[in-house]
Amino acid sequence: MSILVTGGAGFIGSNFVLDWLALNDEPVINLDALTYAGNVQNLAALNGNEKHIFIKGDIGDSELVSSLLARHQPRAIVNFAAESHVDRSIYGPEDFIQTNIVGTFRLLEAVRGYWNTLPDEETRAKFRFLHVSTDEVYGSLSKDDPAFTENTRYEPNSPYSASKAASDHLVRAYHHTYGLPVLTTNCSNNYGPFHFPEKLIPLMIVNALAGKPLPVYGDGMQIRDWLYVKDHCSAIRRVLELGRVGETYNIGGWNEKPNIEIVNTVCTLLDELSGRADHKSYREQISYVTDRPGHDRRYAIDAGKIEKELNWKPDETFETGIRKTVQWYLDNQAWVENVQSGGYRDWVEKNYAERSL
Ligand code: NAD
Ligand code: DAU
Repeated sequence: MSILVTGGAGFIGSNFVLDWLALNDEPVINLDALTYAGNVQNLAALNGNEKHIFIKGDIGDSELVSSLLARHQPRAIVNFAAESHVDRSIYGPEDFIQTNIVGTFRLLEAVRGYWNTLPDEETRAKFRFLHVSTDEVYGSLSKDDPAFTENTRYEPNSPYSASKAASDHLVRAYHHTYGLPVLTTNCSNNYGPFHFPEKLIPLMIVNALAGKPLPVYGDGMQIRDWLYVKDHCSAIRRVLELGRVGETYNIGGWNEKPNIEIVNTVCTLLDELSGRADHKSYREQISYVTDRPGHDRRYAIDAGKIEKELNWKPDETFETGIRKTVQWYLDNQAWVENVQSGGYRDWVEKNYAERSL
């Protein structure tokens, strides 16, 4: 038996593949298009491991996906592959539509074709298609709203979240219409090793160490709900193993924090672990910049269902997870240098110009 993971060279996907192969004997077929966000270096620890079969390819390449499924006969698919960055979706939504919507559709079609060829009813019933999605599909909460549950109405606000919402609906439709045994997870903001330094936490660490400004969008009081990436991976494994077919599961760690608090925490940790030469705090580098267009004010996940039904809880608190993360970036500066891209940062700097509050 094996599982097929898509997007397994990205941030969460690579953590998932590394953890899976550390915990299981079951091989992983890893299909990743290696966009700017995909990095085989994340998987260097698996070099020479025969249980990791890496294929560079697109989830939208129906022929390739069908042939991989026929050859490897996986018992499950875990679909991480996506364009994942909200700012990029504002800059250029096309890739998000292509991969997140069209790509997911083609992947579902290929999987449906394969699933129909499985030898008997029992094998078909045991098969799983787990779609990894986001809390952003639920839209934005105000200060006093209760956290998102699995019954919260979808109200996506960015091209990214709209494309993920569309993919979630397709997955749901393939269950209701064709009986494909699907599971969907909607997770809050992840952080941890291999996080591409365009996202808030790694960007702040990397910019701080490089002596660059730490760009905080708007007033910095937007709230995100943070989960250490290894905890997201353990939740996905639990849903894959025990989740009820056709259900969705919210995943989160009950860690709501305003962005400015996150930035201050990163600065405090860096002050302790790798202080500035002039002994001033990295907080001096904080710079308030123009807000993200359509910026969602608050996300918060009610993780009660996965806790009660599947007995899942995160291992890390925010305090332990963020310390590990900052230390990981200090220990892996060569990785950071390799993934930084000039062109995109130029665009960000132009569009999020510094301003005074
Ligand atoms: P990422 O951008 O770091 O990685 C995405 C990976 O998918 C990359 O390796 C990329 O090469 C690959 N990919 C992109 N297009 C592809 C295609 N057409 N075919 C095959 N591979 C392709 O993203 P991430 O942060 O690891 O997120 C993974 C998944 O989890 C996404 O579906 C995202 O929506 C979801 N998610 C992310 C977070 C978060 O905080 N990062 C939270 C909740 C859900
Ligand atoms: O909520 C889950 C989502 O979390 C995932 O679905 C997305 O794939 C993932 O990228 C993440 O989206 P966000 O937009 O919340 O993440 P990002 O790190 O881009 O931004 C986090 C918050 O920090 C957000 O409110 C915007 C703000 N921000 C971000 C950057 C990059 C800044 O203030 N300054 C910045 O430079």
